[in-house]
Amino acid sequence: MSSRRKLIAGNWKMNKTSADSTALVTDIVAAIGRQADVDVVVCPPFTSIESAGKALEGSTVKLGAQNMHPEASGAFTGEISAGMLRALFATHVILGHSERRAYFAETDAFINKKVIAALKNQLKPILCVGETLAEREAGSTLKVVQTQLEAGLEGVSKELAATVVIAYEPVWAIGTGKVATTEQAQEVHAFIRGLLVKLFGDAIAQKVRILYGGSMKPSNAPDLLAQKDIDGGLIGGASLEARSFVELITAAAAVK
Ligand code: 13P
Repeated sequence: MSSRRKLIAGNWKMNKTSADSTALVTDIVAAIGRQADVDVVVCPPFTSIESAGKALEGSTVKLGAQNMHPEASGAFTGEISAGMLRALFATHVILGHSERRAYFAETDAFINKKVIAALKNQLKPILCVGETLAEREAGSTLKVVQTQLEAGLEGVSKELAATVVIAYEPVWAIGTGKVATTEQAQEVHAFIRGLLVKLFGDAIAQKVRILYGGSMKPSNAPDLLAQKDIDGGLIGGASLEARSFVELITAAAAVK
């Protein structure tokens, strides 16, 4: 059994009003109680972070955001800083999600600035990497992942590296119902672990959680979570309902 605790994170994307978020978090907390076997994070939209945070008070569920700006403050209309997230007791932030890369033209260099800013503010980045279908078919999956990972983590100190979470999310599996096979996912996760060994040394690389994301649901989670280098999931669709999200947490807790 791995020494890494499993982590199940829900990325709600652009879903749920503030009231909806309170209801969902309340249901999740009621169902899982203070279970301590798995780390659980919910990442609501910005407008729900405060209400979701209140609803999870006293529970072991942690709060994350889906994005942030690297600067501390200033003239960046529509943006949110790490400090603002910390003030609402967020502990995690998803950075470099493929939807941000694709629809908002986020580059590796910009994502790297966010990673550094998050760490400076004691937020744990969930750095997303992953190839498109065209890239996989061209045989460049590992090269794409390597570039995104190394660029995203540039300048991260050894001391802070263990607090970073990596999410491998093949773009072709996101929201498509087309999940990566356990072999496909484990291959990339092991490759990422190897890159982390080169960057930070073995002891730190063994501490970093590497999540799988892309159509993960209760039916396919047990096999994925049983893989040696799959330390949890970053869940989209199945995190929007308490029942499926809780089933995923239960599946993670059951992995020996
Ligand atoms: P789905 O679980 O809906 O495929 O989304 C995955 C994802 O993008 C999580 O960040």
